[in-house]
Amino acid sequence: MKTNVAIIGGGPSGLLLSQLLHTRGIESIVLERKTKDYVLGRIRAGVLEQGMVSLMEEAGCADRLHAECFVHDGTFVAYGDEMFRIDFKEHTGTPVIVYGQTEVTRDLYEAREKADGQIEFNVEDVVIHNADSDAPYVTYTVDGQERRIDCDFVAGCDGFHGVSRKTIPADKLREYEKVYPFGWLGILSETPPINHELIYSNSERGFALASMRNENLCRYYIQCSLSDTEEDWSDEAFWEEFKKRIPADQAEKLITGPSIEKSIAPLRSFVTEPMRWGRLFLCGDAAHIVPPTGAKGLNTAASDVHYLYNGLRDYYENGSSKGIDSYSEKALARVWKAERFSWWFSSLMHRYPDQTEFDLKMQVAELEYLRSNEAAQRAMAENYVGLPY
Ligand code: FAD
Ligand code: PHB
Repeated sequence: MKTNVAIIGGGPSGLLLSQLLHTRGIESIVLERKTKDYVLGRIRAGVLEQGMVSLMEEAGCADRLHAECFVHDGTFVAYGDEMFRIDFKEHTGTPVIVYGQTEVTRDLYEAREKADGQIEFNVEDVVIHNADSDAPYVTYTVDGQERRIDCDFVAGCDGFHGVSRKTIPADKLREYEKVYPFGWLGILSETPPINHELIYSNSERGFALASMRNENLCRYYIQCSLSDTEEDWSDEAFWEEFKKRIPADQAEKLITGPSIEKSIAPLRSFVTEPMRWGRLFLCGDAAHIVPPTGAKGLNTAASDVHYLYNGLRDYYENGSSKGIDSYSEKALARVWKAERFSWWFSSLMHRYPDQTEFDLKMQVAELEYLRSNEAAQRAMAENYVGLPY
């Protein structure tokens, strides 16, 4: 087979890139290791920046998003029994959009299928060849049969554990990593939200987050130990612990119910530099990871897609390599800012095993500064709604 861009990974980055390229008549083939149902079963991000929404619009995939999303003009931050609101609209003029990654992915699959886009599921043994030459190609097997795609470019959109980053020789890359000494246990429940906006809570028992998908679907998280497993946490144990970690007046409003999904995610900050090797471009979680506290993972993947899509457009429409040549530098400039915000907000909100009394006092002082200082609130709001592309 032959195509313009071979895209490894059918998560949100790969699908969005494929659909955007399609709007400009640039061909791509998406290779996905899992089944579509598996990809749609993964419960992940819930908060979209305006930049991501604009890309969905440009891709022609935003109708259901606009019809079903929730617009949040602010968020709540709690510590102990104290709680305050950060008003995004007042400080930045921009809200955030609550619409699940699962729904984004579903809309993108639907659009790709409608346009007869090529997506291969259940692919195995993907190998990227000659990425540092003018004639890259990708081989893989599906149903035991070997296949080959010749292409102009390869987009590595295959997440943190994919093959794309590993294809780049170690001496061409520099990796930066911080692993946090805890994870997040998340549950999805068919219950109404406690509050009309998200609550991020720093409690002496550890972090908790009350998020949502719609009027009758909620996503709740608690900080947990890295050695915990889903089996260690019955629904009852989760709710009991969650209630203890949010202000008492909020806990009183909590409506509990059976979980319909429960999973643990470790927390990590990670960046690869550069995000390009020859004709291979890394995009999204394949190149960088943030702890979920700032809701930046999917949104940063989206800004990568924006830079790569525009670079490829410039190449195919104007014969210019300028955009693809500056892709890594432009993407990384924004990535590092999202890394900083996610690290800062994570450090502010979690309990660390080695935290001293002094460290705890610093957290409270910073929370009180954020509560009372307009400039601090504006800085938080600007980062949360998303820095400009
Ligand atoms: P992925 O979603 O990981 O997709 C990569 C795809 O590539 C997968 O489908 C995988 O199966 C496939 N693949 C892997 N290896 C191969 C291979 N060898 N061959 C072919 N295919 C392969 N982000 C936000 O912006 N806001 C939030 O509120 C938020 N909350 C989160 C909450 C949790 C609990 C977690 C875990 C993450 C959260 N994120 C959030 C992060 C967000 O989910 C990710 O950043 C996002 O999924 C990245 O998309 P991606 O397409 O780059 O990678
Ligand atoms: C979610 O709804 O899954 C969610 C929301 C905000 C975050 C992380 C996850 O910061």
